Amino acid sequence: KSILMINGPNLNLLGTREPHIYGSETLKDVENSAQQQGSDLDLKIATFQSNHEGHIIDRIHEARGDCDYIIINPGALTHTSVGIRDALGGVAIPFVEVHISNVHSREEFRHKSFLSDKAVAVICGLGTYGYTAAIDFVARKLAVKKD
Ligand code: DQA
Repeated sequence: KSILMINGPNLNLLGTREPHIYGSETLKDVENSAQQQGSDLDLKIATFQSNHEGHIIDRIHEARGDCDYIIINPGALTHTSVGIRDALGGVAIPFVEVHISNVHSREEFRHKSFLSDKAVAVICGLGTYGYTAAIDFVARKLAVKKD
């Protein structure tokens, strides 16, 4: 079974970007621990980060047929992108939405997500542990499905 983990704009700056909000782990740290966790759980984990909406949409399209679940932190595109919403709907791959920070305790414009009502689950405020929790959740989900 395989999972695609997508990170959107500015998440390449993790570790140095507003560390009081996003913590000190880098994206590389996050992706390495995801890979490690994946191999412990016998799951293939592909990772992708882009600052460009269209590239993220293209990557979601490519996932069709060879990916069982998507874990996505769309960054600021969460609050603006009908295109990412439609791409996820178009490939019909179940997904978990992750935010490092608690978006609901922040500015009003972060409270609205174009994805949440279509997500299997939404995780926010757990810091980078949110990715770990998401992978663990997906591993359990995929294990019970058995197809
Ligand atoms: C974020 C929250 C978004 O509002 C913000 O634009 C991000 C990161 C998070 O992980 O907490 O870039 O998705």
